[in-house]
Amino acid sequence: MNNPEVLIVMGSDSDVPVMEESAKVLDEFGIQWEMRVASAHRSPKKAAALASGAAGRGVKAIIAGAGMAAHLAGVIAADTILPVIAVPIPGGALNGLDALYAMVQMPGGIPVATMAIGKAGAKNAGLLAVQIIALGNAELAGKLVGYKEAMAAEVEEKDLALQGRLQRG
Ligand code: RP5
Repeated sequence: MNNPEVLIVMGSDSDVPVMEESAKVLDEFGIQWEMRVASAHRSPKKAAALASGAAGRGVKAIIAGAGMAAHLAGVIAADTILPVIAVPIPGGALNGLDALYAMVQMPGGIPVATMAIGKAGAKNAGLLAVQIIALGNAELAGKLVGYKEAMAAEVEEKDLALQGRLQRG
């Protein structure tokens, strides 16, 4: 992508199956994204360079996914004033709790918005990025309203179907 508005960074290519949930949401809203692998531990200089160069390229939010001792989001946040959204990746002996604690327990001064562990978190990271961009984009804000309305309609359909099944049974 030439002009990504959202940068999705992850610690390893093994994180792709989770992090592609963020990309799917951004696609739904027509937002350009770029997906990169950079590790806080294995390639810290690359992670720092991606973070420090992002704003100058027009990126408006950064999503960082990592597993285990997940310092990537914090390392990214150290080198940018863009909002950083963290996604803890499940796996390893602690199945994502380790990543959650590492991401959410940031010291004062370096905020990171930490999502739920796994695919739901990655999906919400995409949506939060859309919400951030929509602050300055009325058309996108309108699409977000429509997204919420569609979700509510889906719940209503499920409730009606359930009531039908219960009456027949
Ligand atoms: C983290 O370590 C990555 O984000 C990944 O979730 C985990 C395992 O990485 P690989 O050993 O699969 O490359 O840095």
